[in-house]
Amino acid sequence: MGSVEETKKRLSVNLPFKLKILLLVASTNLVTVYLCSGGGAASPLDGDSGGALFLEHNATQRKLADSQVELVQLQNRLATASGLLENLLGAQRHGDRGREEEEDWPEELKLAVGPHKLPLGRSGNLGTDGLFPAMGSACRRFREELTRYMTYEVGKECPSDAAFAQRLMLKGCEPLPRRRCHPPSPNGYVEPAALPESLWTTPADTSVVWDAYTCKNYSCLVQRGRTKGSNADCNDCFDLEGREKSRWLADGEGLDFGMDAVLAARPEGTVRLGLDIGGGSGTFAARMRERGVTVVSTTMDFDGPFNSFIAARGLVALHLTVAHRLPFYDRTLDIVHSMHVLSNWIPDAVLEFALFDIYRVLRPGGLFWLDHFFCSGDQLDATYGPMIGRIGFSKLRWVTGRKLDRGVEKNEWYLSALLEKPLTFSI
Ligand SMILES: *[C@@H]1O[C@H](CO)[C@@H](O)[C@H](O)[C@H]1NC(C)=O
Ligand SMILES: *[C@@H]1O[C@H](CO)[C@@H](O)[C@H](O)[C@H]1NC(C)=O
Repeated sequence: MGSVEETKKRLSVNLPFKLKILLLVASTNLVTVYLCSGGGAASPLDGDSGGALFLEHNATQRKLADSQVELVQLQNRLATASGLLENLLGAQRHGDRGREEEEDWPEELKLAVGPHKLPLGRSGNLGTDGLFPAMGSACRRFREELTRYMTYEVGKECPSDAAFAQRLMLKGCEPLPRRRCHPPSPNGYVEPAALPESLWTTPADTSVVWDAYTCKNYSCLVQRGRTKGSNADCNDCFDLEGREKSRWLADGEGLDFGMDAVLAARPEGTVRLGLDIGGGSGTFAARMRERGVTVVSTTMDFDGPFNSFIAARGLVALHLTVAHRLPFYDRTLDIVHSMHVLSNWIPDAVLEFALFDIYRVLRPGGLFWLDHFFCSGDQLDATYGPMIGRIGFSKLRWVTGRKLDRGVEKNEWYLSALLEKPLTFSI
C-alpha cells in the first residue's frame, strides 16, 4: 500500500502546515489500526475461531478501506476549500485596492472607463451587459499624471498638453482616456494643397499647433535637419528638398533597398495595402501612393509635428507607439515597412511582440521590409538574428553592414532585410 506515501506527498503539495500535521497524525493512526488488526498478507487460519477471525479481519479491512477513501475525499475537499479561500482573499485585496484607487479619480475618468449599461436586448450579441471603453492598463500606474490629464472642462477646448499626453502614452497609457474636449485649433489655419501636389508640398506653418515643439515653424525644422550634430528624431525628415527626395529610389548592393525592386518581389499589382511603422514625415507612404499602394504611417510626435505633416500631405497618420498591438485584423496587409525604429532600444519582449504582430497582420505572401535595424555586432548574432529567425518569415534579402560614425567603423551594425510571410504555415 503506497497510498500513505502518496497521501503524504499530496498533503505536502496542497495544504497549509497546521492542516498537514493534523492529517498526517490521522493517516498515521489509521496505519496503526491497520497493523494492529493484522493487515498485510492474510495468514490462513483453521477452525471456527479462525473463520470468525477471518470474517472480522475482512470486516476491519473493509472499514479501513472505506475510511481511507473518506480520508482522501476529505483531503481533496480541504484542498479545494483552501484554494478557494486564497483566491477569494486575493481577489478581495485586489478589488479593495482597485476600488480605493478609483474613488479618488476625477468624475470624467470614472465616466471614461465605464461601465456603461447597454439597453436591454442589446447585450446578447456582445456577450456583456455593459461597455467598458478602453484605457491602457498602465494609465493606473501614473495616478497623478492621469488625474492631471483627465481634469478638463467638458465640451471646451482641451488643455494644450500634447507633449505631456504623448509621454503618458510612451509609458504604456495607451489608449489615452480623454474623450470630451476639443483639441486646440491652430491660429489662421490654411487648407492643405490638393493631391497629388500635396504629397510633396510643405504645409503652411499656420496649419499646425506648435505648442509641444521646440521649433515653431517648418523653416526651423528644415534648418535643424541641415545642422550638423543635431540628434533630433528623424532629423532631416521635414526637408522635402533634401534627403526625402531620393529615399528608396535606388536599389544597390548595400543596406538601401529600392522600392521598385521590393515591389517586384510579388506579382505586379498585388501589393496594394501597407503599413509603415515609424513613418517619419510620410515619405514612404507618399512614394507608395505614387505606385498605387495605400500605406498607413504610424508616427509619434517626437519634437516635431509628424502627424500633422503626414496628414497635410494627404496621407493617413496613426499616432501609435511601437508597444501597441497593431489595429488591423489578421492577414489584411500586403506589406509592412519599418526604418530606424525597430532597433535595440526596444526591450526584447516588446520587440518580439511587435515582430509577431507584423507577421499576424500580413497576408500569406506579404512582405516585411525591415529597413536599417540598428544594433551592436554581438547583439545581432546572439539576439536579433535568432529572434527574427524564430518568427517564421522566409528571407528574400538579408544585408548587414557596419555603421559609419564620422567615417570611423565601430561595432555598430545595421541590418536591412526583405522578409516574406510564407504562403503556407509550417513550423
Ligand atoms: C474475505 O474476503 C475475501 C476477499 O476479499 C473473500 O474471498 C472471502 O470469501 C472473505 N471471507 C469471508 C469469510 O467472508
Ligand atoms: C521660425 O521659428 C523660429 C523659432 O522656432 C524663429 O526664431 C524664426 O524667426 C521663425 N521663422 C519664421 C520665418 O517665422
